[in-house]
Amino acid sequence: MTIPEQYQPFVDDIHGMIRLSEADFETFRRHRGFFERNGGALVEAIAGVLDGHAPSREVFDEGRGDLESLKRRLGQWIGRVLDARDTPEFWRSQFVIAIEHIGRRIPNRQMVGLATRVREVLLPMMLEQEGPEAGLDLFLAFQRLLDSIVALTTTLVDEGQRRCLLEATGFTPMLADNLQSMVFKKIRRELMPPG
Ligand code: HEM
Repeated sequence: MTIPEQYQPFVDDIHGMIRLSEADFETFRRHRGFFERNGGALVEAIAGVLDGHAPSREVFDEGRGDLESLKRRLGQWIGRVLDARDTPEFWRSQFVIAIEHIGRRIPNRQMVGLATRVREVLLPMMLEQEGPEAGLDLFLAFQRLLDSIVALTTTLVDEGQRRCLLEATGFTPMLADNLQSMVFKKIRRELMPPG
């Protein structure tokens, strides 16, 4: 199985910039015990962050997601990551995770925000339990994974919005670009009114 051609450049860009690689999956496997010991606490910490942040809690209050289901699925995802390889199948499944969030109208800033909060939880745990060198390696590998998911999500938001605009209006890509630059000029004026 391959990645559909139109999505491959996104994965190439993530490989090139974030640099998630096979070595990171090997690192996860080497530290399987860390995830087995701490997976539950990590899942609870993530659920706690989302429950404690009113705009994220709204997603659950409004029935766009279920917190218990989220905990279960996060636990399963950690398990899958431990068996994953840097393959097209893996990337396809992470694109689908991105779509899970986009479909629930979770804003990009909350994706970025949660990744920050997860880092805050994981860094001290990994350093303390795996030692300063191996813990840092593990942290950096996990950070690349987290950032890859956030990057896929933000990328698909851009992609989907562009497709909506083109399909709804029949605009050419060039016309859409011109409209976009006009809109951003307007936003800039709203943020920084002249004078
Ligand atoms: C670093 C950012 C995030 C990561 C890595 C992440 C990861 C995941 C994963 C792996 C799943 C399970 C998908 C599956 O089983 O295919 C999931 C589902 C979900 N996530 Fe996130 N997530 C992030 C941010 C957020 C944020 C900010 C929210 C805000 C409320 C959120 C809400 C949800 C919901 C509602 C589900 C579906 C739960 C259900 O089954 O009802 N996630 N997420």
